[in-house]
Amino acid sequence: MDTVLDTRRRRTLDTKPAAPVLFAHFVLRSSNIDKMIDWYMAMLNMRVVQRTDYICFLTYDDEHHRLGIVNAAGLEPPGPKNSGLAHVAYTFADIGTLLATYARAKKLGIPPARCIHHGPTVSIYYRDPDGNGVELQVDRYPSKEATAAYFQTPEFKKNPIGVVFDPDTLVRAWEEGTPDEELMKMPDGPPAAPQSPPGSKSSS
Ligand SMILES: [Fe+2]
Repeated sequence: MDTVLDTRRRRTLDTKPAAPVLFAHFVLRSSNIDKMIDWYMAMLNMRVVQRTDYICFLTYDDEHHRLGIVNAAGLEPPGPKNSGLAHVAYTFADIGTLLATYARAKKLGIPPARCIHHGPTVSIYYRDPDGNGVELQVDRYPSKEATAAYFQTPEFKKNPIGVVFDPDTLVRAWEEGTPDEELMKMPDGPPAAPQSPPGSKSSS
């Protein structure tokens, strides 16, 4: 039987769907952990929070960890016949930061898998050392509302994948002082091919 206090404390869970407040982290399993750690540190300015023989936690902001890498021997790399993650995407502050990251990666010998102007985003895709897809992007429009609105346009329906662009041309244009808005205009061109799955022969 409830006491008076117990009755006052009683409450009912609201079981309607609730959105999370934050996408916190994801965890990869790898047989290549040193290279993986180096890669994520180089590409996303991540730092190691804690590392044990079993797992390494990394972050790039005030979240305690954004990525975990489990150290496991003898794993097969992700293959084109496996279901699962196609890529994870990170948004940079502006097109200059995205292009600077591209240029820095290029100097480190890390080429992009492909570069697509999607319409709402300008995106540069990479493969990490295990072949997982990582998209680095910048929103083309200055507000979330404007970016979201693009998804409802006839242009997006006509070409939902986007158009391939040359990042070196954009780097040159940025260095010449071309305004960001102009740099992020969608180039003319045929629709890009859909993304290849991890481990497929094409690099994208
Ligand atoms: Fe994406």
